[in-house]
Amino acid sequence: MPDNRKKLDDMVPSEIVRSLDEYVVGQDEAKRTIAIAIRNRVRRKRLPEDVRDEVSPKNILMIGPTGVGKTEIARRIAKLANAPFIKVEATKYTEVGYVGRDVESMVRDLAAASLSMVREEMAGQKEEEVERRVEERLLDLLLPAVSKDSSTDIAASDTREKFRTMLRNGVFDEKEVEMPVDMKAHLGFEVMGSSGSMEDIQQALNSLGSMFSTAGRQKTRKLSVKRAREILHEEEMDKVIDPDKAVDEAIERAEEMGIIFIDEIDKVASRNSTSNSDVSREGVQRDILPIVEGTKVSTKWGVVDTTNILFIAAGAFSFAKPSDLIPELQGRFPLRVELNDLSGEDFYRILTEPQNAITKQYKALLSTEGVEVEFADEALREIADIAYEVNQSNDNIGARRLYTVMEKLLEELAFSADELSGQRIEITKDYVRQRLSGIVENQDLSKYIL
Ligand SMILES: Nc1ncnc2c1ncn2[C@@H]1O[C@H](COP(=O)(O)OP(=O)(O)OP(=O)(O)O)[C@@H](O)[C@H]1O
Ligand SMILES: [Mg+2]
Repeated sequence: MPDNRKKLDDMVPSEIVRSLDEYVVGQDEAKRTIAIAIRNRVRRKRLPEDVRDEVSPKNILMIGPTGVGKTEIARRIAKLANAPFIKVEATKYTEVGYVGRDVESMVRDLAAASLSMVREEMAGQKEEEVERRVEERLLDLLLPAVSKDSSTDIAASDTREKFRTMLRNGVFDEKEVEMPVDMKAHLGFEVMGSSGSMEDIQQALNSLGSMFSTAGRQKTRKLSVKRAREILHEEEMDKVIDPDKAVDEAIERAEEMGIIFIDEIDKVASRNSTSNSDVSREGVQRDILPIVEGTKVSTKWGVVDTTNILFIAAGAFSFAKPSDLIPELQGRFPLRVELNDLSGEDFYRILTEPQNAITKQYKALLSTEGVEVEFADEALREIADIAYEVNQSNDNIGARRLYTVMEKLLEELAFSADELSGQRIEITKDYVRQRLSGIVENQDLSKYIL
């Protein structure tokens, strides 16, 4: 991650749009709306307290067909954001009382994301100290006898220094050491790292009281030095960070600057609900209401007030309409942005412009086998046209069509890349035509292959 990137709070809307432009082609309206919403929260923070409480964020509903960049925009904001951000799928939740994740867990996930961000920042300021401590502890593990000796023993300290150099050079990475692992800290680490339901389980365990408490349980385990380093890093990080301060900061940041992106919201919308599954989907919508409106959710770090969290919901709404959401929920997403269908020209740009453009990905992949691939401009136009055409004649799956077309186009090359090592291969318009036009012209064939 580049260090020179600006923090999201310092970015003005035009800068946010510009950095989204590096990855997402077109969809200017959506980018603008989101940039403004993010900026408005910074503006709100600058207001005097009494006025501030009156201003709440305007949540956004992004509507657009499949594969035009809704999730991609969210993904990019997450990368930009030093604001706590999580992306969840509405379909993952079940109504309270049913088996599954309840919607409040999204707020807990946000708090967890916020805490891990704050901890990393705080530890970042003391990175050198953490690294130094971890190294000493690893040396203690590698040289158990020496660490207990008095440090005046010259031979011992000499050995220690030798080991230090070797350790730094990665000589011991795969070597196994034995160390006590604190089960609680370990569990905590996994909770931070995963977005799964570990936190819910722990929440449940905590509420059952100390009977099931895992605190203080230690177990000696054999680990590779590499893995031990990770665990020690966590442990030492805990030691240099003031945990209370981190939690306070994390909760405040989640409340004031948090963004929750709810994807696939249309999948929980349904008209004329009759079947059982529909009832529970409406239940999910109803459960979301208070969270979006502002409620207090208890997490294991404390209570999080959701009033000022920014919610961005997105959905294709190809079957259900936004008006199929329950009215209360519609009203809580006052800002609507529509994302446009992508044109052939957009496809051409998507192939080449984004920092992670598909053609760049393939080039990089094949270069690992020593094959240098070049795409002629005409060939790119041809690929874009084909993708556009297939979208028109078959289902319109947006930019994802580019992936299926590219896969087919480069299948042969990908298969035999090892034999072509050292060669430079130019993908020309003819190359594209030869491999794809037969399939495109045959409707039935293209339905299966592209
Ligand atoms: N405007 C765009 N600019 C650049 N790449 C795009 C754009 N739209 C789509 N893509 C590419 O297509 C892929 C699918 O897009 P994305 O995940 O954003 O679809 P979506 O709009 O969320 O669709 P769905 O409703 O099916 O979830 C992305 O991984 C991205 O690479
Ligand atoms: Mg999506």
